[in-house]
Order: sequence, then structure tokens, then C-alpha cells
Amino acid sequence: MNNSYIAVLDSGIGGISVLKDLIKVLPGEKFLYFGDNGNAPYGNKTIDELTVISKRNIDLIKRYPVKCLVLGCNTLSVNIIYSIMRYSGLPTFGVFPPVERVSKNKKTLLLSTLRTAKTFTSSDNLHVLGLKNLVYDIENNVGDLTKINIERNLSLSEGFFINKKNYYDTIILGCTHYVFIKNKISDHFCPKNIISGNEYTVKAVLDFLQNNKSLVNNKGFEVKFIGNFAVFNEHFYISSGQT
Ligand code: DGL
Repeated sequence: MNNSYIAVLDSGIGGISVLKDLIKVLPGEKFLYFGDNGNAPYGNKTIDELTVISKRNIDLIKRYPVKCLVLGCNTLSVNIIYSIMRYSGLPTFGVFPPVERVSKNKKTLLLSTLRTAKTFTSSDNLHVLGLKNLVYDIENNVGDLTKINIERNLSLSEGFFINKKNYYDTIILGCTHYVFIKNKISDHFCPKNIISGNEYTVKAVLDFLQNNKSLVNNKGFEVKFIGNFAVFNEHFYISSGQT
């Protein structure tokens, strides 16, 4: 059990941002990364479609010895974490946009996929924006993320926002893919803070492993990629190593 995998699942490269954060605090663990590029983007799919896809993916993941499952994906987490938990029978953790951690008096913009945006409501100080194309763009430009055009993506968005520099105190990255273009988003809006849910997920996984005495301290970490791993190996070089 202890030496089995921590599985991380996402529609593509987004969950790599979670995987990297997990490796930092769990440098002796074995990880199984499933990047479901074939079905990306999840954010433009229905709940029924996501449920069917996720069951299939869990069946694949469960061919391996797994001690817990991390949904490296806000879209799966906010929409179907409970059905994934029930179906997998695994301790399951999600990434959630940390909206409740931001003061209600601060001007906040939540950027997310369309499916995630539908689960939040805009108010005076919280503006919720669903971006239709940004995950596509990130997946397609993984080799050169400087090509991403933020203005174009904002024009293809659903929701309300103020397109001005320095207007927002906080930007919440409500999609794990967006973490890879954090600097670009920051340059566009110039907020005081830019945050994601990744750190809270990592803390929850760490607490769980500690409480269950299932932390391992191998000499280095190991990552096994399933899904379209050629892309991951080419761009992320994190198959194994020591932190
Ligand atoms: N990275 C995922 C998320 O955090 C999924 C994005 C997508 O495939 O649309 O929502």
C-alpha cells in the first residue's frame, strides 16, 4: 500500500502543475500521471460526458496499485468529485478555486473553464469569467506558451469582467492549465495577488498520507505517465529524479 502510486488525473498538461507541487513536498513518492489529451478540453463538456470519460479513466488508473487519487483539475473537482470518489473507491482529492479564502471586500476575478464558471455566481466584488478556448491554446502551444494571446481569449469568454490593469486585487486561476501562463495573466491585469487552489490540495494530500502513515521516503521520486506521455516527456522532463 505505502509503496503504491499517487495518481494524478487531468485532461492534459494542467495537472502537471499540481504534480510538480506534490513532488516538492513528497519527494520520495511514486506518481502515476494520466493526461487525457484525447478528451481535452474538459471545460466545454457536459457533466454526463465528463462522468463517462472519468469512469473509463479510473478503470485504466486502477490497473495500477494506487493509494490515492488527485484530480489535478478544477473542472472535475467542482463538478463530479463525489461520483468519481464513489466509483473509484479511492481516497480522492480535488483542486478547487479558493474563492472563500479571498476577502469579500477585495475585487476578485475568477478565471476558469466554462463548466467551472457555471458553478460560481458573480457578485459586486467577485467577477466570474469562463474562458472557452484557453485550454485548447495552452495544449496546442505547450512548446511555446509565449504565443498565447490573452486579449483574444478574453474576447471569447462568457461572464463579466473589467478589462483594465490594476482593477483587481486578486486573480484566482480556476483551471490548473492557467498556472503555466500565470505571468502572462499577471502582466495583463496587474493584480496584487494571483492564486490557485493547488497549494490547498497538496496540503490535503500530505495530511492524509501523514495521518495514514502511508508516506514513503524513497531516495527520489518516480513518475509514470499514462495517456499521451510523449508530450509530457518532451516538455517537462520529470520522469524521475531527486528534488
Ligand atoms: N485543467 C483542468 C481544470 O483545471 C481542465 C481544463 C479543461 O480540460 O478544460 O479545469
